[in-house]
Amino acid sequence: MFKRGTWKNRSLMILAAVLALSLTLVGCGTTQPSGSTSGSTNQAKPITVKFAHVVTPDTPKGQAALKFKELAEKYTNGKVTVEVYPSSQLYGDKEELEAVQSGNVQIIAPSITKLVGMNPQFQYADLPFLFPNKEAVYKFWESDTNKKLMNSLDKFRVKVLAMWPNGFKQFSDNKHPLVTPEDFKGLKFRTQTGKVLDAQFKALGAGSATIAFGETYAALQQGTVDGQENTFNNIDTQKYQEIQKYLTVTNHGRIDYAVIVNKAFWDGLAPDVREGMDKAMKEATQYEIKVADELDQKSFDKLKSAGKMQITELKPEQLAVFQKAMEPVYTQFESVIGKEIMDAAKAAGKK
Ligand code: LMR
Repeated sequence: MFKRGTWKNRSLMILAAVLALSLTLVGCGTTQPSGSTSGSTNQAKPITVKFAHVVTPDTPKGQAALKFKELAEKYTNGKVTVEVYPSSQLYGDKEELEAVQSGNVQIIAPSITKLVGMNPQFQYADLPFLFPNKEAVYKFWESDTNKKLMNSLDKFRVKVLAMWPNGFKQFSDNKHPLVTPEDFKGLKFRTQTGKVLDAQFKALGAGSATIAFGETYAALQQGTVDGQENTFNNIDTQKYQEIQKYLTVTNHGRIDYAVIVNKAFWDGLAPDVREGMDKAMKEATQYEIKVADELDQKSFDKLKSAGKMQITELKPEQLAVFQKAMEPVYTQFESVIGKEIMDAAKAAGKK
């Protein structure tokens, strides 16, 4: 027989043990994905979201990533901490795509064409003179055809959260002004990736090489390539004006982004956290659309007033010559990209 006091002590000990166990179980029941998709941590610990990209913070993508950080942390009441890594600090073009699939980074926003390895149809974005203006681009993004294209990424363990614009591409080089297609003959240009861009330069009689964005400045400086194509804002913020003498305004293609998230991470979030992040992404997207126009114009003005680059603004009839020279690219890639996508994109540009 136990004494009364001992019974009391034992009961208290059992009660304490039961309490401790239930507290542990409550904790386990509310675990959330942490920064990595391969493990989960207690809800009390903030969820770390790594958002990596390759451009500088003073670009539309750079600014919107920071806006997303501010809003996501606010709307999730501090449950989420977003770490933004700009300028290929964490990963370059190719590595960031692998990292988001493996969950080493949660969000990236590559230019659409860089998704070519997952689905070659994404090269639609490189078809020369496909979109006459930005409204046509936004209209295409709303189409069912584009939604289907985005859903094709499911099997790569990623999900598209938003589309972010940057702007129209222009050509630059370091040899001579690019005024007619003949001026491209014998020159070599840097491309982001993909066969459509190679074909575009081939149609102009030029060669091309795929070079990661973070390595392009050095490649231009060392003369590995003579020229490149990008938006005014990317040209300005990458300081290509230091190493490229000539800029031709053509608006012949686009640089736009698909903001993609690791799917397992996203699906594993508690509903209130996902809702907060979704709201933050929607607002950051509106903000991005606004700053994309402002920053591109600002950069164009800056490049003009700096006077380092000789800028050629082509007349409509001069642009028509380029358009005609590049036209064969469409027939060449119709079977890769698909008629449905080509037609839907063209239709978006018609009034
Ligand atoms: C490029 O590689 O030129 C661009 O896609 C970079 C970027 O993210 O804007």
